[in-house]
Amino acid sequence: MAGMRIIGTGHHVPGRPYTNHDLARVMDTSDEWIRQRTGIQQRHFAKAGEGPADLAVPACQRALEAAGLAPSDIDYVLFSTMTPDYLFPGSAPLLSTKLGLGTVPALDLRTQCAAMLYAFQVANGLIQGGSARRILIVGAEAHAAVMPWRDWDILEGTKAGRPAADDWERATRHRGWAIIFGDGAGAVIVERCDEPGPGLLAVDLQADGRYAELLCIPAGFRRHPYVSNEALADDGTLIHMDGRDVFKHAVTKLPRSVDAVCKRAGVSPSEVDWFIAHQANQRINEAVCDRLGLPIEKMPSNIDRFGNTSGATVPILLDEMRRDGRLVAGQLVCVLALGAGFHWGSLLLRV
Ligand code: ACO
Repeated sequence: MAGMRIIGTGHHVPGRPYTNHDLARVMDTSDEWIRQRTGIQQRHFAKAGEGPADLAVPACQRALEAAGLAPSDIDYVLFSTMTPDYLFPGSAPLLSTKLGLGTVPALDLRTQCAAMLYAFQVANGLIQGGSARRILIVGAEAHAAVMPWRDWDILEGTKAGRPAADDWERATRHRGWAIIFGDGAGAVIVERCDEPGPGLLAVDLQADGRYAELLCIPAGFRRHPYVSNEALADDGTLIHMDGRDVFKHAVTKLPRSVDAVCKRAGVSPSEVDWFIAHQANQRINEAVCDRLGLPIEKMPSNIDRFGNTSGATVPILLDEMRRDGRLVAGQLVCVLALGAGFHWGSLLLRV
């Protein structure tokens, strides 16, 4: 059976970093609280007019360059985002056109922070089935549009003073999730491999819609009209997140999934070189390591610099690790994630 290997990666984050101190200008929060509870020190935000397909372009160009490929060498695009350029169509065809990939199939995946688990599984299936040889996998997010503050000039520090009282109160009401998210894009190119070794060893994937409302944007096509003044007044177009519950689910479901995927592949967690975890909150990843009896050094982190970039965290981290030489051919990698849906699970990949 054909395997697949990673032949190029790239990432891109927009603009300058925004520190926790910057956020404390628009809501009641502090650098100390955010660092202690999440490990985040800064994040990036897309500019108005810049969607995930735009953020993905430089990430994909870097991945193509790293792989030594031209756009015409790609024959399938898998694009993951929970902050799409349009409600429809998806961002995959937009990216494809911006990159000059011609009319290759371009598929959007909607599995939020668990995006890369699904993307690797779908890519593997496409390769096994003979539908594609080289697949561009992308995760890109532009959460800036959903942020709960209104006055970006105050956040930027280009305007003195505090926001209006109701703006401050609104942003503070949403501070639990607003301090977590950041924007960026990561890209991974996988190629069919007919030699033994590289490829997907096992996948453990689950989804459970009973938890959809623990983490969602309630605005949607169940509502008539899907965006109304009432929905705007209720903040129905913003993220709703029960952080404590999501946290509890993550720290119980992810260790179980890692155990299951290792059993399925017949390997012990101690044989895994890297646990590439979704960067939602450093405390979640520490608790997962603790429960699995793993040293934290095996679970690399970059959440301090980028925050939670949802579907982009895993490919951004993979790119950093390939570029700085930590991730090398032959290693065994476990990718694990839980996100809105819920979708969660893990996979084992020989790179
Ligand atoms: N600054 C200051 N204080 C805050 C902030 C903030 N940004 N946010 C919450 N608080 C306060 C609360 O009001 C509360 O105060 P109280 O005790 O006076 O009521 C106190 O801090 C504790 O609040 P909790 O919500 O219990 O804080 P917790 O330690 O759970 O941290 C957090 C919140 C960071 C959101 C955490 O629960 C978490 O990371 N959850 C998981 C999030 C996650 O993984 N999301 C998935 C995203 S991926 C995707 O699919 C999109």
